[in-house]
Amino acid sequence: MHDRASGLPRSSTTSERGLTRTRTQVVIVGAGPAGLLLGQLLLRAGIDAVILERRSAEYVLGRIRAGVLEQGTVDVLHQAGVGARLSREGLVHEGVEIGFRGRRHRIALKELAGKSVMVYGQTEITRDLMDIRAAGNGKTVYQADEVALLDWQNASPRVSYRKDGVTHEIDCDFIAGCDGFHGVCRASVPSDRYQAFERIYPFGWLGLLADAPPPWNELIYANSERGFALASLRSPTRVRCYVQCSLEDRVDQWSDARFWEEFRQRIGEGAIGDLARAASIEKSIAPLRSFVVEPLRFGRLFLAGDAAHIVPPTGAKGLNLAVSDVFYLYEALRDHYRERDERPLDHYSTRCLRRIWKAERFSWWMTRQLHQFPGDAFSKRMQETELEYLFESRAAQTSMAENYVGLPL
Ligand code: FAD
Ligand code: PHB
Repeated sequence: MHDRASGLPRSSTTSERGLTRTRTQVVIVGAGPAGLLLGQLLLRAGIDAVILERRSAEYVLGRIRAGVLEQGTVDVLHQAGVGARLSREGLVHEGVEIGFRGRRHRIALKELAGKSVMVYGQTEITRDLMDIRAAGNGKTVYQADEVALLDWQNASPRVSYRKDGVTHEIDCDFIAGCDGFHGVCRASVPSDRYQAFERIYPFGWLGLLADAPPPWNELIYANSERGFALASLRSPTRVRCYVQCSLEDRVDQWSDARFWEEFRQRIGEGAIGDLARAASIEKSIAPLRSFVVEPLRFGRLFLAGDAAHIVPPTGAKGLNLAVSDVFYLYEALRDHYRERDERPLDHYSTRCLRRIWKAERFSWWMTRQLHQFPGDAFSKRMQETELEYLFESRAAQTSMAENYVGLPL
């Protein structure tokens, strides 16, 4: 089959002097949720794509990250054909709680904002996307080394990589940079071609996963004098808990007993149940950062997901933003191939950034209100007053609920 835009075969392979040359329409770098979802949406639209991933599939599945999905994200996953298990196993939450000064205050998401969120792990989404890609014969190259972007500034970009000692080169129309914060795509663009906005927070999150029934019905975000804590879950039999920690801390300094004792003191006696006996199955420390790059398009290269922006996890927005970027990019590529309409590609960056900055604001606001910051007494009073106002004002709660469940796509 031929590609209408380029006139070249959509997909072909030639081998010359030990170098394999292939052609596809879109090369996607990164098989995290952003890359896999884009691959799936393009596959369903009949657009040929190859995904290049530096790690193995098992490694990608072993990374424990997000847990809360906005309704808009759930809708896109259904549209991509990966909604079945999500509908069966995802847990609908109509509210969240905020702990402060020994009391818990409920924010009634559904009642105030008309929508709920769904608890379903990023690992499960990744697994569903990997399975459907394998069933549809979509090509994913795992353990692709030395991925390099070539000629992305002109109309005939190429991407090269090494696998098992052989160099491969792929000619394509577009490159989708879905390779996360530390990936090669953004790093390939000269820094004078974009503006980066960044805030690094003076603490991290230590997360613990354990097989135990959660003693809470809804997520609890706690601001305590000892630091932030979050009580979350993955299923009716698996908890995911976090405590604010020092950036100098190492995981091996945190035994399970130390974690649960700290968590108990921050989240409150009433919420901990029997958890102190639960053995961890994963523990990791994540730094907290806000980051945005502008623009998201450079010639034939488009950035999406964590490659383009990072939010601190307090607002549960990172994965959701990756999904909205990918959805906009999918629509723009579809219109390019089907209608020869370039406008959505031209507007990609502006369309994404409008949504990204609002999620950045909300994530920064949640982080600011819920953590202990080193700093002055005035800032501390401001934080206390902001929370008191939130608990007293239905308008403030509505604003929080509207952002937490997700602004429209
Ligand atoms: P990634 O998941 O980082 O995937 C990028 C992929 O690219 C990786 O597989 C990587 O191996 C690959 N790659 C990198 N470099 C190369 C290269 N050179 N060549 C080839 N491949 C490469 N978000 C939410 O929405 N809700 C939450 O509740 C939430 N909780 C979180 C909790 C924690 C503790 C953390 C750390 C994050 C959380 N997030 C949350 C954020 C969310 O996990 C990320 O935003 C999401 O993973 C972004 O997906 P992505 O595909 O853009 O990037
Ligand atoms: C999680 O369950 O991992 C989780 C939930 C909510 C957040 C961040 C992480 O805000």
